[in-house]
Amino acid sequence: MKRLVTGGAGFIGSNYIYYLLDKYPEDQVVCLDALTYAGNIHTLQDAFGRHNFTFALGDITDRDFVEMLFDEHSFDEVINFAAESHVDRSIEDPSVFLKTNVLGTQVLLDTCRKKGVPRYHQVSTDEVYGELPLDRPDLFFTEETPIRTSSPYSASKASADLLVQAYHRTYGLPVTISRCSNNYGPYQFPEKLIPLMITRALADQPLPVYGKGENVRDWIYVEDHCSAIDGILRLGTLGEVYNVGGHNEKTNIHIVRTILGELGKPESLISYVPDRLGHDLRYAIDPGKIHQAIGWLPTVFFEEGIRKTIKWYLDHPDWWENILSGDYRQAQELFSR
Ligand code: NAD
Ligand code: DAU
Repeated sequence: MKRLVTGGAGFIGSNYIYYLLDKYPEDQVVCLDALTYAGNIHTLQDAFGRHNFTFALGDITDRDFVEMLFDEHSFDEVINFAAESHVDRSIEDPSVFLKTNVLGTQVLLDTCRKKGVPRYHQVSTDEVYGELPLDRPDLFFTEETPIRTSSPYSASKASADLLVQAYHRTYGLPVTISRCSNNYGPYQFPEKLIPLMITRALADQPLPVYGKGENVRDWIYVEDHCSAIDGILRLGTLGEVYNVGGHNEKTNIHIVRTILGELGKPESLISYVPDRLGHDLRYAIDPGKIHQAIGWLPTVFFEEGIRKTIKWYLDHPDWWENILSGDYRQAQELFSR
């Protein structure tokens, strides 16, 4: 079996590559990544030592390159993680979000179709459903919840999902889509809430909490997301969407206080800052469909996962200090020559 993982130098894609290399040691994994600011070649250093891992530096919007790569490898599965993923950046400048997330997905779909790839999986997000109210804890996102996007990021991801579904219906492309809630764990870029707060608290810097910190996210440990995607690829029904997550809802301020408590840092570091524009109030997944179809449920409770994550950042200062200093970009530039 030969799999293409796009966006594999990023947070979830790299965790997925390590998951695959461990679970299927005989299978080939090719990572296609453009090494944008969010990609980090150091993250894959343990994969480079494996005989069955190959890295291809390239952009999913580059049709010629993508076609060449597919000709070279003849993939059995394509799993698309490559995306611009940070909501705040999409509010600053939506353009690259549309290019990568929508047009990049189109290039991958076209190429899968042209080369007859037997399986495509689109890694999407619960953000396509918009927000739930804070005062209705009985409400959850199901796969039937209407698409109602808030940010340019979520609009671009929803557009990509619609394209994936259109290619299934129109051309019979063998696809599935997963819509996951907020991930956390090793190798997450320190612009996202949890690694940002950990790294800033360690440096005794203010922790910027948007608004009152009352927004709720449904957190999932990244390995659980990886096993869900693997399950969908093995047991999912073509053309279907599966929500991934569930039962780990926390307010942002709870998360920040938990991190400060674990690190023995004072709550005076918390700094309330103006709210994100269009900030979604609450995300919460109903994982009923994936549980029934695939037998999957998240296995890591937040209390355990956050301790593991904090320990990982404490044990790997080189990884994130290299990012904060900007030095990791030098390695990318050398790599791309
Ligand atoms: P990330 O930002 O950490 O990584 C994205 C990766 O994609 C990087 O390695 C980057 O270099 C690469 N990339 C970006 N543009 C590219 C392009 N044009 N061509 C090739 N590679 C490109 O993102 P992440 O948090 O790991 O998210 C991965 C996927 O999962 C995304 O599709 C995201 O929408 C989705 N998702 C993320 C979360 C989350 O909580 N982080 C939750 C649900 C779904
Ligand atoms: O729900 C899945 C989504 O989760 C993914 O699709 C996105 O790719 C991923 O980035 C994430 O989006 P969020 O916007 O929820 O994640 P972020 O870590 O940026 O923010 C989490 C919450 O914390 C959100 O309510 C905003 C708040 N926040 C974030 C930052 C960066 C702060 O209060 N302060 C901050 O500095």
